[in-house]
Amino acid sequence: MAKVSIHIAGQTKEMEVAEGANLLLEAASRSIPIPFKCTTGRCGTCRVRVIEGSSQCSDYTEPELHHLNETDLASGRRLACQTFIHGDVAIEIP
Ligand code: FES
Repeated sequence: MAKVSIHIAGQTKEMEVAEGANLLLEAASRSIPIPFKCTTGRCGTCRVRVIEGSSQCSDYTEPELHHLNETDLASGRRLACQTFIHGDVAIEIP
């Protein structure tokens, strides 16, 4: 199991997820509101920022590299629907 801390609107929510779990689906199943539309990497809506544990996340996918610029990548931006969790991480929802 991996621990995910999600910082949103001045609050921190915690969830435990299985190795390899999808960030967006896990958050949505717990009513943690990451905005999304497509869930397939096409819309670019589900932007989050990984503030701790980026090495515990899956590699960037092609859709992410399409939607995120160099500044986004340098600041830890990810598309939640394209991010799979492999260890403890902290995420910020802008
Ligand atoms: S929900 Fe559309 S890119 Fe993630």
